[in-house]
Amino acid sequence: MPETPSSAAPVAMRLPRYTKTEQDEILGGGPDPFGVDAAGLTWLPKTEHFGVAYDGRLVAHAGLLRLPVAVGAARTEVVGVGGVAVAPDVRGRGLARLVLAGALAHARTMGPRHALLFCRPPLVPLYGRLGWHPLDGEVLVEQPGDRLVAMPLRTMVTPLHEDALWPSGPLRLFSLPM
Ligand SMILES: CC(C)(COP(=O)(O)OP(=O)(O)OC[C@H]1O[C@@H](n2cnc3c(N)ncnc32)[C@H](O)[C@@H]1OP(=O)(O)O)[C@@H](O)C(=O)NCCC(=O)NCCS
Repeated sequence: MPETPSSAAPVAMRLPRYTKTEQDEILGGGPDPFGVDAAGLTWLPKTEHFGVAYDGRLVAHAGLLRLPVAVGAARTEVVGVGGVAVAPDVRGRGLARLVLAGALAHARTMGPRHALLFCRPPLVPLYGRLGWHPLDGEVLVEQPGDRLVAMPLRTMVTPLHEDALWPSGPLRLFSLPM
């Protein structure tokens, strides 16, 4: 991780790697850092990673990957966003906003017209503040053993292009959730 002087404003940057070590650097190594273990889901790792370093330490992360989905009868792709994390001691200072802005700037170059994330219900207002909208219909995701399950977390979308409108109809991921 490059040294960032503590006087410099933090910026989001692409990370060369993001493993359990980097996640632990942000969130600590405690159990269930995202508070979603009770959902009992298996998640996909993300393929591209963005982070914020401050004072030589990784303090925020957001991951991306392309996902094939269907909305109603229409097959399309979305950019899945996951692993959004900010170190506990620097929360509430706009770092989730900053790292998501960096990740979404890249997502706009990836092709899909929308980004999608799953979150616990208490985080819906936070993501709403960042321009994400909750989906109210059924969302089906794949799980190991050829199972298709209803997503128990909230699903939120944000447009990646100005004229992008989310189509109507139930959402189905052709993959594990991210
Ligand atoms: C969720 C998390 C990433 C938020 O990080 P953060 O750095 O505190 O978030 P920010 O400071 O960037 O806040 C984002 C925006 O939401 C707003 N916000 C925060 N709490 C809010 C709430 N309860 N209602 C509405 N808006 C809220 C902030 O004011 C900010 O908006 P602003 O920039 O216009 O002021 C962080 O708490 C975390 O890492 N939690 C543990 C891991 C986790 O659950 N990740 C989410 C996975 S989906």
